[in-house]
Order: sequence, then C-alpha cells, then structure tokens
Amino acid sequence: MFDRLFIFDTTLRDGEQVPGCQLNTVEKIQVAKALEGLGVDIIEAGFPVSSPGDFNSVVEISKAVTWPTICALTRAVEKDIVVAAEALQYAKKKRIHTGIGTSDYHIKYKFNSTREEIIERAVAAVKLAKKYVEDVEFYAEDAGRSDNEYLARVIEAVIKAGATVVNIPDTTGYCLPEQYGQKIKYLTEHVKGIEKVVISTHCHNDLGMATANTVSGVLNGARQVEVTVNGIGERAGNTSLEEVSMIFKSHKDLGIDTNINTTKIYGISRMVSSLMNMPVQPNKAIVGRNAFAHSSGIHQDGVLKNRESYEIIDPKDVGIDENSIVLTARSGHAALKHRLEALGVNLDKDRLDKAYEEFLKLADKKKDIKDDDVLMLVGKERSDNNRIKLEYLQVTSGVGLKAVASIGLNIAGECFEAASSGNGPVDAAIKALKRIIRRQMTLQEFLIQAITKGSDDVGKVHMQVEYEGVNYYGFSANTDIVAASVEAYIDAINKFVK
Ligand code: KIV
Ligand code: ZN
Repeated sequence: MFDRLFIFDTTLRDGEQVPGCQLNTVEKIQVAKALEGLGVDIIEAGFPVSSPGDFNSVVEISKAVTWPTICALTRAVEKDIVVAAEALQYAKKKRIHTGIGTSDYHIKYKFNSTREEIIERAVAAVKLAKKYVEDVEFYAEDAGRSDNEYLARVIEAVIKAGATVVNIPDTTGYCLPEQYGQKIKYLTEHVKGIEKVVISTHCHNDLGMATANTVSGVLNGARQVEVTVNGIGERAGNTSLEEVSMIFKSHKDLGIDTNINTTKIYGISRMVSSLMNMPVQPNKAIVGRNAFAHSSGIHQDGVLKNRESYEIIDPKDVGIDENSIVLTARSGHAALKHRLEALGVNLDKDRLDKAYEEFLKLADKKKDIKDDDVLMLVGKERSDNNRIKLEYLQVTSGVGLKAVASIGLNIAGECFEAASSGNGPVDAAIKALKRIIRRQMTLQEFLIQAITKGSDDVGKVHMQVEYEGVNYYGFSANTDIVAASVEAYIDAINKFVK
C-alpha cells in the first residue's frame, strides 16, 4: 500500500525570485502547462500583490491550467489576501498560501512584535483567506529555526482557524535532516487537529541538504513537498522536484507514491533552464549532463555488461532517450517540431517557421544539433521583438594585433554604426556599441559557457549590466562567442531602453 505524496511546485514563485530569471506571462504559461503535463498537484503561480506582472500571471495561469490546484502567495496582510483572491478568480481549484515568521529572529527583528501578537496575526490571516477560498495553506516562515513548542502553538491555532495545509519552511536552509524530521514528528505528536491537515515541507539548500531534509520530513509524516524544477530558487535554491520524485520512485520500500510522470522530467528541466537562462550544473543529480555519463573504463565495462552494475536509474525513466534522433541540416520541420514537443515546447506554425529558419542557419555551422541548441533557437525567436538589434559585427583580433571592431545596430528600424579598438575582441565590440548607446552602464558579470562540446559548439553568454543602480540581465547563444557576448549585452540593454 502506497501513501500519496502531493507535489507542490514553486518554480514560478520561489524559483522565479532568482535575479535574472524572471519570465514573462507567456513563458510562465508555457512552464505551467508543462508542469501540468508532468503531473504536479499544486502550482504556486506567483505573489500577486508584489507586481502587476505577477498578478497577471496568476490570472492567466489560472485560465490556462485545468487539473492542478493554483496557489497564490501572500503575507499575513489584508491587502495581499484580497489581491490574491482576485487573481485566483478563474482557477478551477484554488489555494491561498499565507503566513508569517515564527522564529524569534523574525518576531523580534523583522516584526518588532511578540509571540502572542504573531499568533493573532496568523489566525486573522487564515480566517480572512478562508472567506475567499476553502483551501488555505499557512506557512510558518523560518520554522527551521523556530522553537518547536511555540511552533506547535502557532500551527494548532491556524488549524483551528481553518488552515487545510501547514507548511514548515526551513527558510534559511539551516536544519540537519534528523533535526528537520524531528520537528515534523514533534508537530504530529503535539498539535491537536494535525491529523485533519496536510503537513508540507519547504526546504532551502544553503547547506546542500534541501533534498535530505525534505525526505526526512516525509518519513516523519509530511505528505506535501514544495519543490522547484532543477532546484532553482533564492541563494542556493530549493529542493529539486526531480530528486524527490526519483527518490520515492527508486525506493519503493518507503511506500510513498507521487503523481509525477518521470519520463517528462528531462524535457521540463531543459525548458526551465533555457527560459530562465539558468544553466544546470553538469553533475546535478538526475538532470545534469553527466548524470548518466560513465567515463572510467571500469564503469563503462560494467555498464556494457549489465546496466544495473553502475546505474540505479534507467535514463529513459527520466526522459533521456540516448537513441533520440540527432537533428542535422537535412532534418525537416516535422523533426524539429517533434523534438521541441518532446522538450515540452509547443509552437504555432509561424513561430515554428521562424525557429526552423534559425535551425537551418545553425545546422550550417554545426553538425549535430542537440536539445540545448534546439531550446536556444526558441530563445532567439523570443527576442525578435527587441527594440535594439545587432545588424552586423566585424572584429579583427589576433596575437600581436590590437583588436578592432565595427558594429551596426538597428534601433527601432534605423541603422547606427560605430567602430572602436579595445583590449581584446569583446572589449573592442562593446566599446563600439557604447559609442552608439551613450548611457552610463557598467558590465558587472560576464559568463561564457559551451553548451555541449566540440569546437563548433554554441557558446552561451550571460551578462549582468548595471544602469542607474539596477542590474539587468542579458543572455545570448551563438557559435561565435564574440557575437554572443555583444548580443547578450544588447539583450540586457533592451530591458531598460524602451
Ligand atoms: O522559504 C520560505 O519560507 C518561503 C515562504 C514564503 C513559504 O518561501
Ligand atoms: Zn522559500
């Protein structure tokens, strides 16, 4: 007999709080639909009061998604709850997620309050949310560092007020697995009414223990886990959806079952990484590039004789099909469409045609087109509406030569040209660009990464550009890394030059 574990995905809320990872509403709908296809039970779609963009995303995701519950975050503040209820109006199944800090750090320093007053605020928030929706989740922020006895009093009070789910976040990622598990157990044993509600985990990864803490929470009674795709999230991130799902699938002896269709894990991992311009570390469990790559001779020999000698997961179970068709310049529209759909991207005819044009250009430069390349093409197609576009770039550089670049920019339909020398090709190109766009902007971070391997590979560039005290993030991918660098710079500029 298996116990059902509910998967609460917060990629679009906690995950999206990462600087530079913000998605627009269309992209969020794309991720939400893929999460629905994956089988998550609850999608936390945003924090509606925080911005009109977040509000709108919750509205549109509520309309677009049918099966999962749509959840909106609030603080224990009246306006937040009223706005969240309004944003959820079209959701078929809806939940308000409200809460307040319960550790002494939060009570004293964040709220300048007292333990008793915090309980009153928590209860009032749940009661208010309950006027709008039946399903109310309460979070005790920084529960990981909260005193268990006091935490139990808070949780008992909010259950009495009508909470249906109680979330016990390790907000700072401080707990040890044993400690976190004991906290959940303590609540199951000391809170009146706890058997009527679902206990949820929400673990951050600051000490690299988010997944271990989550599993420990489940083994001690939690039946909902809050997770993100690829474990993205503030600082070191959240618990990763793919790790938790595969742990319970692999360890059937634990008697826990989820609704996740694990064969869709790889596709959504690539989609989120590509849309958020957030690379997945190569050795990341389950979805990293090297997760199933055996390089030592002894391992390769073992795997060839019997896969299970060194592999506990069949790559096909997470959607990695090693025999998948490699796309080349001869592949047609249908092959590209099929590959994109396998990666969770559905394009209408016009967008597919544009992506196919880009695909043919890339296939001319690169022999085998891999999944990351395909997703990058979709990203290129997304940035077509930018105000500033790179028209041309010519760079001369080499050993013993001073690098010189000339550049042409199309700004709202008009062409501007400039040239400059510099300390290397990227410096020369950016100096030329700055002669056209005369703003006080500084490059804060510059990261170049090859997507797969080979000297014909596509290079991905991430840039952080500071303008008037705000950081803007730019991204591009190109087989020419100087062009990718300039395109990434332009991508960042397009975010503040409207
Ligand atoms: O980490 C945290 O405590 C949170 C809450 C808002 C649920 O994200
Ligand atoms: Zn969090």
